[in-house]
Amino acid sequence: MNSAFFMGQQVAAYHEHSKHQPYRLAPGPGHLDWASQPDPFRTYAGAQQFRLPLGADRLTADFRDLYRSAGSVPVAALNLASVAHLLELSLGLSAWKVYGASRWALRCNPSSGNLHPTEGYVVLPALDGIEAGVYHYLSRDHLLEQRRVLGGDEAAAWNGLFPAGGFLVGLTSIHWREAWKYGDRAYRYCQLDVGHALAAMRYAAAALGWQVRLLIAPATRDVARLLGVAPSGVKFDSLEAEAEHADLLMQFAPMGVSWVDLAPKVAAMAELAGQGPWLGRPNRLSRYHEMAWPLIDDVAEWTRQPWQMASEPWQPASLPELSSGGAGRAVEVIRQRRSAQAFDGQTALAQSDLWTLLDATLPRAGCAPWDLLPWAVRVFPVLMIHRVEGLEAGVYLLVRDPERLATLQVELDGSFQWARVAVAPDHLPLYLLRAGDFQEFAHGVSCHQEIASDGVLSLGMLTEFPAGWEESPWIYRQLYWEAGVLGQVLYLEAEAVGMRGTGIGCFMDDAFHQMIGLRSNRFQSLYHFTLGKPVVDERLRSEPPYG
Ligand SMILES: Cc1cc2nc3c(=O)[nH]c(=O)nc-3n(C[C@H](O)[C@H](O)[C@H](O)COP(=O)(O)O)c2cc1C
Repeated sequence: MNSAFFMGQQVAAYHEHSKHQPYRLAPGPGHLDWASQPDPFRTYAGAQQFRLPLGADRLTADFRDLYRSAGSVPVAALNLASVAHLLELSLGLSAWKVYGASRWALRCNPSSGNLHPTEGYVVLPALDGIEAGVYHYLSRDHLLEQRRVLGGDEAAAWNGLFPAGGFLVGLTSIHWREAWKYGDRAYRYCQLDVGHALAAMRYAAAALGWQVRLLIAPATRDVARLLGVAPSGVKFDSLEAEAEHADLLMQFAPMGVSWVDLAPKVAAMAELAGQGPWLGRPNRLSRYHEMAWPLIDDVAEWTRQPWQMASEPWQPASLPELSSGGAGRAVEVIRQRRSAQAFDGQTALAQSDLWTLLDATLPRAGCAPWDLLPWAVRVFPVLMIHRVEGLEAGVYLLVRDPERLATLQVELDGSFQWARVAVAPDHLPLYLLRAGDFQEFAHGVSCHQEIASDGVLSLGMLTEFPAGWEESPWIYRQLYWEAGVLGQVLYLEAEAVGMRGTGIGCFMDDAFHQMIGLRSNRFQSLYHFTLGKPVVDERLRSEPPYG
């Protein structure tokens, strides 16, 4: 047995272990120790700070134009201001909420429990107004902290690695933030949050007229070296800053600039940056840790990509362009995204809005956000439709890649109807599996959360684990990233059609699998989601994101 396969089996065991069952929730702390609540913002004491200009408001693109191919959105030049707008609209704050004596920040990217384990880093060549180097984004103050500056001969070598117009963003996770509340299941949530952040960055880039790719080729160790994060934590004084784990790199470039893949250069960049010195001292997020969750860091280790990999781009089938207009300006839709706390349990979704929303989940070549991911579709939404005009209530499946239909039919309950929904657009492969009222089921399977039954629909993201994935256990992360991207699409689409969404990380894994009659572990539901007409809590006061 090779070591990758051994680790893959450990990851499969983690997945089973971290399932919620009606008779046993995944191991967690059982109570919340508020005194050790982690700081949601990482800062680097002593690092030079670069305040970023605010001004994403000036981006005029219509939300629906973000889905269209090249030419629909004016292209922003690459400079410090446009990088600032990218961050403002993706990882930046969208509001402060106030209730009584409590005040908390919301961001353009959602996060399980609003704990925000994801950190963002920008890897830049020299630009107007900022030196070449590696910077941490501090969303609280919309500024960059300089972690590594490259001067002299180093700068020349560094700048030579970036073709004109290209730069990188890296995402990392501080698992402790999420484990503090959710224990062993937290690794899943961290990876879903990474997926949400990925998609948030893709939408923001589209509003700037930029192209983006997720780089899956680089080894995780090189990503960590390039970003200067330490998976074993950093010791200073008598305390240790919580460990931070490298997740991924994304490459950005304005549309029209010829695309040069930076993945083969990441090892050389990591070599240069890794020589340090790293500037600034990471903050400690909790004064003490009442409990430790070592399994989380083990899974991170098992799912590390150990070496540089070749990656073949994947081309989706060609589809008609998405309809344009009608949803308002992109910046507004992105900033108004929120999680609903409650739905009215009455309003029905217009059928045409359901088609628009589902259409946005289909990958189109060269179109945001799905052009980001370099692999074939692996996530298939199983919808429990409660209230959609002109559609009977029941369980439906959207086969986002028609090539997977036969496999899905073999893997799911043999008594399902598989009736193609004839009123849906021709290119939307939506199937009715079983008619009926699934509100009570949706409520129970979603850890008894009413948002799952009171909305217009809720869904489980049925995900195909590729054959032999245990030999390449880092795929486990990628499956969650795709589910997170899908979650972000649904959040924004819900806003665009006048509804509101909420991600559901708390669900009973196998109870859902039983409902759809899964025959093997080849498919698993990794994330759930619900949407409907929100009931807004008027007791909460809203303040602007940046004073
Ligand atoms: C991966 C993930 C899982 C979530 N799970 C739940 C859930 O089970 N129940 C719930 O009410 N909200 C859930 N949420 C919503 C978060 O609580 C919400 O994103 C966070 O409080 C920030 O609020 P905002 O989305 O309005 O910015 C989830 C969000 C994410 C990204």
